[in-house]
Amino acid sequence: MENRQQIAAGNWKMNKTYDEGISFVNELLEKTNEENVLIVLGVPFVHLKGIADSVANTANIKLAAQNSHEKESGAYTGEISADMLLSVGAEYVILGHSERREHYKESNEVLCKKVEHSISKGLIPIFCCGESLRIRKAKIHVDFVSNQLNEGLFHLSKEAFANVVIAYEPIWAIGTGETATPEQAQDMHKAIRNLIEKKYGNDTAQNTSILYGGSVKPDNAKDIFSQPDVDGGLIGGASLNVDDFVQIINSF
Ligand code: PGA
Repeated sequence: MENRQQIAAGNWKMNKTYDEGISFVNELLEKTNEENVLIVLGVPFVHLKGIADSVANTANIKLAAQNSHEKESGAYTGEISADMLLSVGAEYVILGHSERREHYKESNEVLCKKVEHSISKGLIPIFCCGESLRIRKAKIHVDFVSNQLNEGLFHLSKEAFANVVIAYEPIWAIGTGETATPEQAQDMHKAIRNLIEKKYGNDTAQNTSILYGGSVKPDNAKDIFSQPDVDGGLIGGASLNVDDFVQIINSF
């Protein structure tokens, strides 16, 4: 069971060659000695083994894959399984990122299977949810996110759910430079924690790490992370630059 913790998770998306990834991590190891923050690097599949070797002696740096298949193995050309990810050092997996929902048509239905399979193998899902601008403007964002959680995550047993990290990422803030205000983030995180409490009880709700994602930068991280229901961030663009990422790690 994962306990609630402060997490700075990077999501490199489809960026950096293998050599660039290894140099980034070597520089990160030189520049950070923060031990109270869990650092999770969401790197491309082909980087996992090399980076896992580089961070093997650093207890608070873990690796995440950015996707994983819902089946054990088989004829699924181009896909990757939970067992394969574990075998190269991934301990986390980002699931349900809005880019995967949008470009690869990942539905709540398939995510529900991916989450279940990942947990059964011992991978910790970082489950992404979040609304578009249209939904935010229509003021139905809480219902929308609630539905994503209901359909993608809340089928889990209480024991299984204890292994989940949630990332709230409003789509209108991803890669746009427009960040949710600390209050907007807090309101949604609180709403998510209330939904978890309703479904699994207060203990589980208090133990769940809920990250904010969407244009987190060195200059706004502190205000966002200081909100009571924000446990850290899932950081895209700013996680590609070592100095920016280190500043964000130091913002807790
Ligand atoms: P961003 O990406 O920080 O570049 O907005 C966040 C994400 O997509 O996880």
